Amino acid sequence: MTDRFHIDAATVRDLPCIMALERRGFAREIVEHHRVFRRRLATFPEGFLVLRDDATRRARGYLVTERWATDPDVDPASYALGHHPAPRYSPSGPVLYVASMTIEPALRGRRLGAFLFREGRARILRNVGGIERELLIVHDAWQAAQQLYASEGFVVRAVLPAFFPAVAAGRESAGGSSTAALLMERNLPRNEVATSANPLPAAAFPCP
Ligand SMILES: CC(C)(COP(=O)(O)OP(=O)(O)OC[C@H]1O[C@@H](n2cnc3c(N)ncnc32)[C@H](O)[C@@H]1OP(=O)(O)O)[C@@H](O)C(=O)NCCC(=O)NCCS
Repeated sequence: MTDRFHIDAATVRDLPCIMALERRGFAREIVEHHRVFRRRLATFPEGFLVLRDDATRRARGYLVTERWATDPDVDPASYALGHHPAPRYSPSGPVLYVASMTIEPALRGRRLGAFLFREGRARILRNVGGIERELLIVHDAWQAAQQLYASEGFVVRAVLPAFFPAVAAGRESAGGSSTAALLMERNLPRNEVATSANPLPAAAFPCP
């Protein structure tokens, strides 16, 4: 399945497809504004990747990260949906915050999420260098995402109660009545901390 797709740098021309994926991936109350994605792309372009369909050139999944100067520990405000990435950013920051990812619903369950998460992060870590720790937030009801993160070595650091807005019952990605988040972390072994910094090739394709 993965041979129909490749991981590519996201560009501003991918944003319409990225926003369509965002709306299909998350309940309305959790969807982040396109401004937030633009800011992430402008602040840390090396950390924003798409899963590109070789035939159509469309983005069918995305993985977006932020590079932070410090680890904010369990402070919920630091992870709030919609936060501006620039104040936390440092070009030599040791923390990679995995801000969001999703796969086109029709393509889920075929290992594409695992491919994008594993290969995408490996590419970012290799290209930017100096990352010592990865952090992410996941809804405590999102089993597929939690399974994926655990299988990649992430462990739960803390539970953040009442982190997500309540979502109308019965909707996809609703998460029932729960609003809690798991804060997960992965510390890179010393020999995995890359030191090289190679620029990613840029590519731009329209979303027809
Ligand atoms: C999370 C998501 C990206 C996974 O993508 P995917 O392509 O369907 O996942 P894969 O087929 O690669 O499977 C990845 C892992 O999730 C598990 N998984 C997949 N669907 C699952 C489900 N419905 N329930 C439990 N586990 C599931 C797989 O068993 C696999 O685990 P393994 O690596 O231990 O074998 C996708 O489901 C998605 O976009 N969800 C909506 C948005 C979302 O929750 N994003 C995460 C935000 S934190």
